[in-house]
Amino acid sequence: MSHTTLPKIELHMHLEGAAPPAFVRGLAAEKGLRLDGVFDERGHYAYADFNEFLKVYEAATAVLKSPEDYRRLTREVLARAAEHGVIYTESFLSPDFCGGGDVGAWRDYLAAMQEAAAEAEAQDGITMRGVITCIRHFGPDAARPIARCAAETAGDFITGFGIAGAEMVGRPGDYAWAFDCAREAGLRLTAHAGEWGGPDMVADTIRDLKVERIGHGIRAIEDLALVDQLAEDGIVLEVCPGSNVALRAVSSWQAHPIEKLRARGVKVTISTDDPPFFHTTMTHEYDRLADVFGWNEDDFHDLNHVALDAAFCDAPTRAALA
Ligand code: ADE
Ligand code: ZN
Repeated sequence: MSHTTLPKIELHMHLEGAAPPAFVRGLAAEKGLRLDGVFDERGHYAYADFNEFLKVYEAATAVLKSPEDYRRLTREVLARAAEHGVIYTESFLSPDFCGGGDVGAWRDYLAAMQEAAAEAEAQDGITMRGVITCIRHFGPDAARPIARCAAETAGDFITGFGIAGAEMVGRPGDYAWAFDCAREAGLRLTAHAGEWGGPDMVADTIRDLKVERIGHGIRAIEDLALVDQLAEDGIVLEVCPGSNVALRAVSSWQAHPIEKLRARGVKVTISTDDPPFFHTTMTHEYDRLADVFGWNEDDFHDLNHVALDAAFCDAPTRAALA
């Protein structure tokens, strides 16, 4: 059975990471920019491991130069997600790539993204909210202006703050200032952890950054006491199984710990992370979970309920989606 039309709530997708290769090539051609080492001979994003993935991601992102580029990207990404039944998506937005952390420049990019999001809501029936993300391998000093961009634009559309990038750079506590700044502005918090780092990274992230959700979090499975703590505290995992398989954070779909985490009472949700990089869609994620773990419509209904509950939107938006 295909799950294309099932309504879906997605909590973890990077806007630039959702850029289709043809979109990136088209923009590069319009601007006369060369893209060396970004695509393979079939035109797919080309990378051998996570570090190369980050380099290719940043090289592709470099063709996005203006608010208008981001308006077009947002519109395209939301149209594609809506084709897979996504009715609500939280997208990671990176002021590092949109104005370099300058609040005034960021406002122009944000206005363009919001215009596209409003059009997608009206035309495709998909609601988007933005989670501003700093980038771990750019370091704690770079994270501060990003947190200020987040705090200055917090509201109905920008509802959260997070951190992505190379998890093994530094420790979570190095970014506490940025997370405190975002929290004081009323933003909800999530952080990538336990994708590459062990259970200690997940525990330190929760303790030092006081997040309510964790991006990935899959290596928590290596410490069952931590798993039980996540379940007891209601910490929500934004699990992206297709991403984990493609980047080889896990060896296979069969070896993915999502089933065990869920069975032990952890609140898990399903997302695509960077869909064209991993040749995935929300439909593909659901189809694989059904094949590998035997999950059925009731399971997906429950997962979407957990995701909607954990969404960083206001209560009227949540009620309209229920
Ligand atoms: N940025 C985009 N995708 C990411 C991932 N899977 N892990 C960390 N940072 C990312
Ligand atoms: Zn991610």
